[in-house]
Amino acid sequence: MLKQSNIIIDVHLNNQNPDAVKEEIRAGLLSTPRTLPTKYFYDERGSELFEQICESPEYYPTRTEHELLKTVADDVVTRSGADELVELGSGAATKTRVVLDAMARAKQLRFYVPFDVSEGIVRRVAHELVEEYEGLQVHGVVGDFLAHLEHIPQGGKRLVMFLGGTIGNLGPEAVPAFLSSVFDEMDQGDFLLLGVQLITDADRLEAAYNDSAGLSAAFNKNMLHALQPVLGAAFDPEAFDHVARFNRSEHRIEMHLRSVREQVIPIPELELTLHLEEGEEILTEISTKYTGPHVEALLTQAGFSPIAWYTDPAHLHGLALAQKPSG
Ligand code: SAH
Ligand code: TRP
Repeated sequence: MLKQSNIIIDVHLNNQNPDAVKEEIRAGLLSTPRTLPTKYFYDERGSELFEQICESPEYYPTRTEHELLKTVADDVVTRSGADELVELGSGAATKTRVVLDAMARAKQLRFYVPFDVSEGIVRRVAHELVEEYEGLQVHGVVGDFLAHLEHIPQGGKRLVMFLGGTIGNLGPEAVPAFLSSVFDEMDQGDFLLLGVQLITDADRLEAAYNDSAGLSAAFNKNMLHALQPVLGAAFDPEAFDHVARFNRSEHRIEMHLRSVREQVIPIPELELTLHLEEGEEILTEISTKYTGPHVEALLTQAGFSPIAWYTDPAHLHGLALAQKPSG
């Protein structure tokens, strides 16, 4: 039996002004370097491809974080005392189960709030989890975590979780403002569990974003399909190559779509004609790698009290537990 009564889903994306959406894309395409907004990776197909990337042998972050969570979830749940889990960029919520299990063991599990820009995956996860966890209430929020955090429902004692190193996809200028906005939405005493990918050798990093099965390439190019509802059939994915390189000085992987030839691309929806040279690149995503002290400084700067820092034996991934102090 479907336990529909335990599910609420709020959708905030349709309220966006279409002109603002187009202006964001247009401004990126005209900037130096040219960019496209990362959130367009995650249409239905993109979310599926990302799930496949997570299972590929080269993409170690998901596996590593999953194993790490298994060893620390009970500690996190005990320290936080949370009975509500709010997860930003929740995606397929695979690793989430580890934390939900720990909350259930501690008899603390009441509410789960998946927050993601991808509507289909929020709905799917909500239905799966109310079946898997007896008595669980799921209140999904479909929105942009850079714009709609105020729609997180008020609730009990909350643990806010942001996994996968997704924070690394925000630019360095955006991270402090983002962490402050998360802090502002939390109540005093609430906890944050933040997953970050750690700096490691360039070969391992570059392989993770250039898997041999071509999933990363398909994922990157899928953005050109995902933009179609907004821009019409402007781009030909065949006219671009996937490029992912480690930028040492910025300690981040940078994903590009590289034009295989000179192209003139009319985009009437943006009142723009894009001229691309052969070899010219559009930046589609950065994936920043951190150190423990860097993460601690960012959290402290946003007002959080660092509580614990967990890492795997090979130091590939970190989980920072922090609290919004009272008073
Ligand atoms: N937490 C999962 C998924 C990480 S992939 C894991 O660790 O494996 C990043 C997720 O964030 C995707 O599900 C994507 O749809 C979502 N996302 C990306 N940008 C977003 C944005 N601006 N607002 C809300 N969700 C976003
Ligand atoms: N959030 C993921 C990360 O930073 C995104 C990602 C993984 C990705 N693999 C990719 C983006 C390949 C483009 C291409 O690790």
